[in-house]
Order: sequence, then C-alpha cells, then structure tokens
Amino acid sequence: MSQFANTLIQWHGQFGRTGLPWQGEKDPYKVWLSEIMLQQTQVVTVIDRYQTFLVKFPHLNALASASSEEVMALWAGLGYYTRARNLHACAQKIVAEYGGNFPADPQVLETLPGIGKSTARAIAAFCFNYPASILDANVQRVLARVHGITAPLKSSVENKKLWLLADSLLPQDTKLMPIYTQALMDFGATVCSASKPVCLSEQQKYSPCIYQKECAAHQQQIVLKTPCKTTKTKVKLVVSDMLLVVCQNKILLEKRPPSGIWGGLWSLPESPWQEIAQVADAAKVRMGIGIEQFASALHWILPTQYQAAKKLAPRKHVFTHRTLYYSITVLTLSPATPLVNLSEPLEWVSLADLPRYGLPTPIKQLMQDFGWLSVA
Ligand code: ADE
Repeated sequence: MSQFANTLIQWHGQFGRTGLPWQGEKDPYKVWLSEIMLQQTQVVTVIDRYQTFLVKFPHLNALASASSEEVMALWAGLGYYTRARNLHACAQKIVAEYGGNFPADPQVLETLPGIGKSTARAIAAFCFNYPASILDANVQRVLARVHGITAPLKSSVENKKLWLLADSLLPQDTKLMPIYTQALMDFGATVCSASKPVCLSEQQKYSPCIYQKECAAHQQQIVLKTPCKTTKTKVKLVVSDMLLVVCQNKILLEKRPPSGIWGGLWSLPESPWQEIAQVADAAKVRMGIGIEQFASALHWILPTQYQAAKKLAPRKHVFTHRTLYYSITVLTLSPATPLVNLSEPLEWVSLADLPRYGLPTPIKQLMQDFGWLSVA
C-alpha cells in the first residue's frame, strides 16, 4: 500500500474522530444522507439533525414516499435547501429506476440528483469498498499542502492533476477503503485544518503532524497560503421589509419559489430585496415603505380595519455571500376581519400547524421569540 495511506490509517487508529453516528456505517442510504448533510454544515449540527431525519425517514422508501413539504420542514435550518429538494428527487429516482438499491458504481451515483463526483466516490468507498478517491475541500487542502501545489485548484488542469494524485495514493487492499476515506476526512478536518493546522500550533496539545517532515508547504513555510485562494466574492448587503400579519391564532405565510434563497420554504410576505452600499443605508432605504405600499406590492388587498401595526426592531441575518437587514411590521387584524380566501403562494397558517411548515431560520427564530413555536 502507498506509504501515504499506511501512515494515515495508522494515525486514524490512534487519533481519528470517534463517536460520529455515521462512522462505520455501510447502509448506502445512511451514508448518502450524512454526506449530503455534511456538505455545507458543521459536524456538530449534523449529528442531531441526521438522527432526527432517520427517525422520521428510517429508509429510502420512507423518504421517497414523503411529501416535499415534510422533507423541507425537516431540513429547515440546515440551509442550502437545494440539497433537500435533490435528496427527495434522488430517493424517488432510486426507487423508480434502481429498484430501491443504490448503485455501487460512482460513475452511476454521480448521475443522480445532488450527488457530485466526490460524494459519489465517498459513498462507493464507504459502502462498497470501491477503490475511488475523494476530493472534498479538506482533502484538496491536505494534498495541496503535502505535495506543494501552489496553483489555484479551481483550474481544470490542476483539478485533473489532483484527482490523479488522489487516485495514486489509495490503499491497494480495497477492504481498507472505508477506513482510509474516513481517515483522510478526519485528518483534513482536525490536523491539517484551514486556519489552525497542528504544525503551526504553539501549544503542542496534539501530536505532531504525521506528514510534517515531507510536507512541501511546511518546508516552504506557506502552509496557510496553501491551497491558493481565488479572490473572495464580496458579501452583498441587502434590505427587505417583512409583514407579519396576525389574525387571532393564524398568521399569513408565503411560500417562496423553488429556487433561490430559502427556496420552497414558507416565509413572511416581503418587499423585494434591495442592495445597499453600506450598513448605514439600511435604515434610510427602509423608511419609505409603509404598510399600504407593501400590501399593494403584494397584490394583496389590505383589509380596511386592522387593530394595530407595530414595527419591530430591525434584525439581521448573515448568509455566506449576503447579509440581509430586515424589519418586520406586525399587523394585527381584528377578529371580525374576514380572512380573504388566499391561494398559493399566500396561506393562512394556524399557529398549531407551524411545526409542519419548513421555515427559514430567522423566521423560525421569530416564531420562537413570540412563543408560537417551541425551541426544539
Ligand atoms: N465530512 C464529509 N463527510 C464526512 C464524514 N464521513 N465524517 C466526518 N466529516 C465529514
């Protein structure tokens, strides 16, 4: 076996992460679920959500036959909602076209919704001992550092080279594929991390890095500069006003379009998001928007009597590439107001039914602040 793989597997036996619920798992459904959840979400968050998901959908058929509302509600808060839509579509496709069995070949797995090359190979390696390398961001970093690759990894030439390198390091004994793959992930996440690699840590609370002597980036003192980062996209600032319309024990929710931010989730009716140049502009932009303009922008006929309108303190929600400043006006309709019979995307939702609706994190938080949703 390659010396690289041998050293890594030995390290894993002593220092690898333990106690992650998907570790050692062979069931492709569970492995696939964990890999998709872990794509853009931290391990600590995934641990709970993975287990809750499996209680509700213990196997592929349960997920495939669920409604998209149920899936979105369970995914709410994890972000990157395209993952949830693809997860559902993928489960349905495997049931319809593969008799409910995950294909073992990563090239076939890769054709399924939401499964990229590295994820396909991770599933194949973990579940079927398939000799396929993985190349997620953690692994790219480890290989770029140890092998001193300084060119941007996004370029297709570099990317091809990196895949070839990853393939050349695999253990020959395919039985070792699951442990090797997990070891590589663990090593990248804990020892050769992006900003606090063990080799640069002053307090030697960890044992030294197993590749320190041969690591090109370490020798050239360019560990933190490797891999080469492509220029960061600037975070955009946007503002929006939202309307929380309450009538007795019902609130008005709006289903968002399937694609885009919070796609497919239920949110508050809102004004279009408007970009601002600086944080100080957030208050200025919002001042002009009154309830009437807001309602007419929604093509929604504002009931003539409303009991009270109250503006809540402005709030902020941080996305990866965007920061949203939003302020909410609470509009309490008098119980006598006839609730107009609305059709999608607007819907009157009784507070008792809220747990069944997939809500974006800040809206869920708001509902919890009002005591309308329990803090689960
Ligand atoms: N990130 C992606 N896959 C993972 C796994 N199997 N264990 C821990 N972190 C991961």
